[in-house]
This record gives sequence, structure tokens and C-alpha cells, in this order.
Amino acid sequence: MEYRTAAIIGSQWGDEGKGKVIDYLASCADVVVRAQGGNNAGHTVVIGGKKYALHLIPSGALHPGAVNVIGNGVVVDPAGFFEEMETLESDGVDCSNLFVSDRAHLVFPWHRAIDELSEGRAGSGGIGTTRRGIGPCYTDKAARVGLRVCDMLDAAAFREKMSARLDAANEIIERIYGAEPLDKVSILDLYAGYAERMVPLIADTGAIVYDAVTAGKAVLFEGAQGTMLDLDLGTYPYVTSSHPGSGGFIIGAGIGPRMIGEIVGIVKAYTTRVGAGPMVTELTDATGDAIREAGHEYGTTTGRPRRCGWFDGVVVRYSARINGTTGLALMLLDVLSGFDELKLCRDYAHKGETLQGFPARLDVLGACTPLYDTLPGWKSDITRCRDFGALPEAARRYVEAVEEITGVPVKIVSVGPDREQTIIREEVF
Ligand code: IMP
Repeated sequence: MEYRTAAIIGSQWGDEGKGKVIDYLASCADVVVRAQGGNNAGHTVVIGGKKYALHLIPSGALHPGAVNVIGNGVVVDPAGFFEEMETLESDGVDCSNLFVSDRAHLVFPWHRAIDELSEGRAGSGGIGTTRRGIGPCYTDKAARVGLRVCDMLDAAAFREKMSARLDAANEIIERIYGAEPLDKVSILDLYAGYAERMVPLIADTGAIVYDAVTAGKAVLFEGAQGTMLDLDLGTYPYVTSSHPGSGGFIIGAGIGPRMIGEIVGIVKAYTTRVGAGPMVTELTDATGDAIREAGHEYGTTTGRPRRCGWFDGVVVRYSARINGTTGLALMLLDVLSGFDELKLCRDYAHKGETLQGFPARLDVLGACTPLYDTLPGWKSDITRCRDFGALPEAARRYVEAVEEITGVPVKIVSVGPDREQTIIREEVF
């Protein structure tokens, strides 16, 4: 059976504009599913000029009628989750069609504290995390000592488990970092309150997704972060602690691998990265600054300025290979308007040789230099173009160069932040 499912995956280092594509496709989706990461993610969706910042809640919330699922692979910080829900509801967004997996792990204040302390201690040698406690929460999950959303269903046992985990965390906080221990009573009370609010939302979300997929409903899997931040396949150790690549959807939503139909890779027309780690096409000059300002490249979650550079075809080709990408959505093409010429990295050179594949070793990656193709730029405003033919010739050539370098068709081109500013070359759903 052909399933009506699509996974939307960041194909660079996150912040590619997944929120907009998800939002666009969510208009015909019955179910929207988050399967990894937590509120380290930040999706901005603009509807009719109004901006909505989403971190944990699936973008389908902005579409009345869509069922929204936070899958078992997500780590849920109830503080961020309920705050986000309140903000959306005060903006008139209905969040009632939302389910949270009973198997998802919970983020606690001690995870945030340990993230903060370990990054603080590492200084400039740190990973540059979002300090949302994501890594420490997934660490507890892998160490099999984490607390899950289903633990909230038994108030007394939940309190006991939290108490034991807080004691263990305070030992780390005090002994290893020499910091003030966290206050037990206030945290336990706070989380007891969160548990009461969470109970009506808790579900076996894997079953909800399975039933929807097998009933032929349109299901969107919403990626967070990007492939290059994948714990296994990204630029380790400068990665997040989950699996933003397509494999992450299978475990993180609790479904079989054949249930994902289309795999849409979201790419910026250039490259950005937040946090530390090598970035071969990074521009630390005026051109990089010009891209940052034109693209408003500051983090949605942390406000940090993003590192900017030319389009890295090696990264996107690698992402396409490991994700099985069936089509690309090329975002923020309008940001490149006005440059005299544009560069796209086709290959990496290392010690005078052209590299094959993407290196695992960061010292090799850090020593790579980009081999660029240079294309003419365009000067006109493209934000009102609604079909491919309406783009200036240089912009069309740029899109075709992306296809040629990556080997993947560009099915969607985005020319502005609004839902309407989208060119659909081929329907994905
Ligand atoms: P963590 O996920 O907070 O542990 O951060 C690990 C790395 O992933 C850091 O380099 C972060 O900047 C990066 N990161 C985490 N979430 C996002 C995101 O949504 N967009 C871009 N980078 C992210």
C-alpha cells in the first residue's frame, strides 16, 4: 500500500526553514508528528504577517483539524511545553488536538542546570548547546535512569522517582561542579502540578500514528534540528543528542521504516550553523555579515547570531544519501538577491586532493577547503514570484545548480517568510 506520509528533514545544521514547509504541507495533513529533540528546536512560522515561534509543539497546531503528536523520541520539558501552549492559546491557536507520548522522556531543572554547568566549565571548548538540558536528558535515557511521561500517571511514585533522581543530580551539581544544589520541595511540587496538566494529553502515540497511516490519512513527520547535528551521522561531537535524520523518525515515532513515503530535505540557499564545530563554507567577512543581516540569521531559541556561509553541496549530498531524500525544498532564495555573484561548494579539497564522501574526522573536516562553482547573481526582488518561470534567469540557474550538485530535485522554492511566498514545482503530498 502507498502511504500518504512525508518526513520533513533539516538537511544542514538546523534552522533551514522547516517550520514554513511543515506549515505549508500541514494544510493538507491529518496528523503532524514530532519524533526527536525537544525545545532546543525553534520553528518560526509566519501566517498573514504574524509570527509564531514553535519549539516543542508541532506546527500542525496552527491548522485547525490537524492532530498533533509529540512522539516517544522527543524529550519534553513541561515548563517550556506549557508556556508555549499558553502563548499560542493567547494568540488564538487551538492546542486541544495534541497528544504526548507516554514513552517520551521528561526534562527536569537538573538537566538544564547540568547542561549550563558543563558548557560553562568547557568555555570556548564547549559544544555551544542551547542549554535546554537536552543532552543530559538523553544521557539519562541511555543510562536507563530517566523519567518518562507515563511516570506522571502515578503521582506518588512520580514524586518518589523524582526525589531519587534529584538527589543523584544534586550530587553531581555539588561535588563535580561545586554549585548550589537544587531545591527539592519546590521542584517536586512544580512537577506534580505539571503532571496534573499533562495527564489528559498522555497517549500511546505510536498507535495513533500507525492507525492514521494505515487508514490512508496524510501524516507529516516534522523534523527538528538538522542532519549534520545527528548524534551518529553528524559532525560529532558538535551535534545534538538525538537523531534528526530520517532514521530518527522510525524509532522516535514508533513506526516501521516502510511507513515513510516522501523524504523532503529542507535546505537553505546558503549555509548556517549555530554553536561550535567545523563549517567548511563559513564566511567570516562582509559577505557573511550581509547574508546574516538579509536572512535575519539569529537563533529563534537562543537569539545567538548564526555563522553564515555559501551553499555547501557536499553537506547536502551527504544528507541526501543518509536520509534517502526524495526531494529538496530550497528556502530563503530571496536572501541571495542583490549579490553580484554567488558561490556553491561542489567538493572539498584536503591536502590537495578532492575528498570522496563526508569525513568522520573533525580534524580532516576542519582542514578542508571548499571547491566552488561561481554563478552570476540577480538584482531584482523575487519575493513576489509564484512560479518557477517568473524567477530571473540567474535564480533559475542557481536552483538548477543545487539540483545538479546534490543529485536531488528541488520540488519547492521559498522566496519569503509568508506561507504565500512559495513556488511549488512538484507536489510532495
Ligand atoms: P543541544 O541540542 O542544545 O544539546 O545543542 C547541541 C548542538 O545542536 C549545538 O550546536 C546547538 O546550537 C545545536 N542545535 C540544537 N538545536 C538546534 C536547532 O533547532 N537549530 C540549530 N541548531 C540547533
